[in-house]
Amino acid sequence: EWDDSIRDEEKIDCYPDQHGASETSCTARGCVWEESNSDVVPFCYFVNELYSVSNVQYGSHGATANISLKASPYSGAFPSTPVKELQLQVTYHKNEMLQFKIYDPNHSRYEVPVPLNIPSAPSSTPESRLYDVLIKENPFGIEIRRKGTGTVVWDSQLLGFTFSDMFIRISTRLPSTYIYGFGETEHTTFKIDMNWNKWGMFSRDEPPGYRKNSYGVHPYYMGLEEDGNAHGVLLMNSNAMDVTFQPMPALTYRTTGGILDFYVFLGPTPEFVTQQYTELIGRPVMVPYWSLGFQLCRYGYENDSEIASLYDEMVDKKIPYDVQYSDIDYMERQLDFKLSPKFSGFPALINRMKANGMRVILILDPAISGNETEPYPAFTRGVENDVFIRYPNNGSIVWGKVWPDYPNITVDPSLGWDHQVEQYRAYVAFPDFFRNSTATWWKKEIKELHSNTQDPAKSLKFDGLWIDMNEPSSFVNGAVPSGCSDATLNHPPYMPYLEARDRGLSSKTLCMESEQILPDGSRVRHYDVHNLYGWSQTRPTYEAVQEVTGERGIVITRSTFPSSGRWGGHWLGDNTAAWDQLGKSIIGMMDFSLFGISYTGSDICGFFQDAEYEMCVRWMQLGAFYPFSRNHNTIGTRRQDPVSWNKTFEDISRSVLETRYTLLPYLYTLMYKAHTEGSTVVRPLLHEFVSDRETWNIDKQFLLGPAFLVSPVLEPNARKVEAYFPRARWYDYYKGVDINATGEWKTLEAPLEYINLHIRGGYILPWQEPAMNTHLSRQKFMGLRAALNAEGRAEGWLFWDDGKRINTDQYYLARFSVNQTTLLTHEKFNNYLTGTAPLYLGYIDIWGLSSSSITNVSISWNTNNEEVFANYNSTTKILSVNMT
Ligand code: GLC
Repeated sequence: EWDDSIRDEEKIDCYPDQHGASETSCTARGCVWEESNSDVVPFCYFVNELYSVSNVQYGSHGATANISLKASPYSGAFPSTPVKELQLQVTYHKNEMLQFKIYDPNHSRYEVPVPLNIPSAPSSTPESRLYDVLIKENPFGIEIRRKGTGTVVWDSQLLGFTFSDMFIRISTRLPSTYIYGFGETEHTTFKIDMNWNKWGMFSRDEPPGYRKNSYGVHPYYMGLEEDGNAHGVLLMNSNAMDVTFQPMPALTYRTTGGILDFYVFLGPTPEFVTQQYTELIGRPVMVPYWSLGFQLCRYGYENDSEIASLYDEMVDKKIPYDVQYSDIDYMERQLDFKLSPKFSGFPALINRMKANGMRVILILDPAISGNETEPYPAFTRGVENDVFIRYPNNGSIVWGKVWPDYPNITVDPSLGWDHQVEQYRAYVAFPDFFRNSTATWWKKEIKELHSNTQDPAKSLKFDGLWIDMNEPSSFVNGAVPSGCSDATLNHPPYMPYLEARDRGLSSKTLCMESEQILPDGSRVRHYDVHNLYGWSQTRPTYEAVQEVTGERGIVITRSTFPSSGRWGGHWLGDNTAAWDQLGKSIIGMMDFSLFGISYTGSDICGFFQDAEYEMCVRWMQLGAFYPFSRNHNTIGTRRQDPVSWNKTFEDISRSVLETRYTLLPYLYTLMYKAHTEGSTVVRPLLHEFVSDRETWNIDKQFLLGPAFLVSPVLEPNARKVEAYFPRARWYDYYKGVDINATGEWKTLEAPLEYINLHIRGGYILPWQEPAMNTHLSRQKFMGLRAALNAEGRAEGWLFWDDGKRINTDQYYLARFSVNQTTLLTHEKFNNYLTGTAPLYLGYIDIWGLSSSSITNVSISWNTNNEEVFANYNSTTKILSVNMT
């Protein structure tokens, strides 16, 4: 049975356990031990399969098989009780999407309670299906083949398949080394490194760091095939897990519970894959127009006057911005729903800013203090409504510690963190957001925050909420005062590759035995649903925002899971004010584009540590093109907002933000397309140019939608940038001229005050004159900028509505197209209520127009058939029409 034909890159690790193997422990698992010089190739690898397949049946809409544990002599093979009989069920849901599920048909196991849009009856047909499925024996495997090309996109006929109570493993060959996704973690390249890399997934309050498991969990990847076709794979499993890549190329999943429930999307383009994925998990939320404006935040505003001066200075210096935040500083002792006396002027300030068209977002953390001596309704009403997580069988509340301080303490800032946590931080309870009663309670507290019935003068008229610490994060491991009781759940027999795993799964969070209650009344262990905590908080928070404000609103959440994008956006967490973080923010946003969360960005100029001038300049330029564009940093660091540096910094910020504001109609239309069609907003170049392999590795530039290319400077002292221009016609955004680069790298000038932006020929971008905020810019003239492709054509879209109403049923939607002689509007829907801000077309520019014989330009727009004066510049090849 010794098989020495297995090459190093094909060895499937039989001993991935945290504490290394020995020859004895390896052979006890029935595996082979072979030492080598490599520190990555496993010494202990599989040579035998553990399960066999029988009763394979193929039907018109799927296939089934029985998978049974072999009579195995190897007692050490399973770290926990093996499931002996398994059922495989493959369902051909759609022509482009199938599911395969491996589960215990005899005992029900935990399955992820996240609703998916699964068609009620399979709609695929044998002729139109993009795939064929084969169930293989010896060893057991599933093969999914793309019919059109014969490429095998999934082939799990590899050794090591295991299904036990607390440890499930499955490996698959990959059709190429071009795999993207899996998060949330910091990637140093967008493409995943296959060289025996391992990533853990378990939500954790962990600042982005290489290979560390951070806030959210997305067991999803998009893979490219050698010919440029693309597919996606979701493992719908919410237990702590890790994935390992090896150069075969292959991928191994190891999860600590649940079942195997895979969904495969056949694309065939990367953009179709994302659309198919978000069709299943739900499309990204439609954001309000104002949320695309620039935003300012920091942790550590002393009081409301500090915010007031910042606001006044931004206005004074005429730097566009729409949203002002307060972090936990506005709370008394960081208690949710309690206004700090230092912020007693905040309600009035909010009203003043809002009168000028500004918007306000406030932070809320999930954990609620239970140590108040004065009345604290958020806690008492929570207890009355039984909203807090308890130990099993209605045991006592599981207490942790987060930001809230005890009452009546004097904080000694010189104390170290651990002492602070011990001496100052109150006992906090964690709402179980799965329960309907919790959602009702949470909404009521949020309503009180917005319209305080006890003291109306304390009402904080926020427009959106920022939910943080919802991994959930705790500053103690497991619980206070006496820790966790279930050693197996907190230290499972297989501990995935996770940060601080020596301390167990309850490190920096709740005990895994804590009990949660699903809406149907079933009881689940935190062990199974830990990764869903932030997910479960997002929807009720979003609904609360809409209910109390009566408007569309926005929620930004730190912890996410597949389908979180339906209700919220995400910022990339506690990054650092360091140069490497600029590039990583692009990769992070591209990851979240794949995950179906479009409203993303990182803290501009960095969260931890003092920002440095040039870095912050470059980051303001890059961040001006994040969908979620917010400058934010932590307490104790220097100010880094646009008005905290010098005049040059202000000028650069103003100019790049004016560019952002000019493009908002285009960005808003992209957000609408993401919401309705599932297309990406921050778009990797390979999504548009997949036939050009050069794009497969590009992650220092990105597109917004199909047509707007951002090539930022990401390094200190650089005054040039290397940028790739895929095969298309490209125009300099500022000059409107063809740069004559196609399918090539170019070195571009990038002086400090300048960011390189290009428009792709073939597209029409709607734009609007910028202003101090979107309330004001929306009153201004709009324009259409058509950049012609080599054939002299272009097309584009505009979605427009009032930007804030909850139902998007009153809107304007049109496609525009241009050829050498005519610009046409193809209205799809026209029910825009012009009440607050009418839509005026003021400008049309056509770029790359070669004809010099333009004699007459006529416009018909809203039934007026007017002659207009136009200007054609034969050097720049720009035709400009001004109708203002
Ligand atoms: C967390 C958040 C950060 C916030 C801080 C204080 O670290 O990630 O953005 O400023 O808590 O609330």
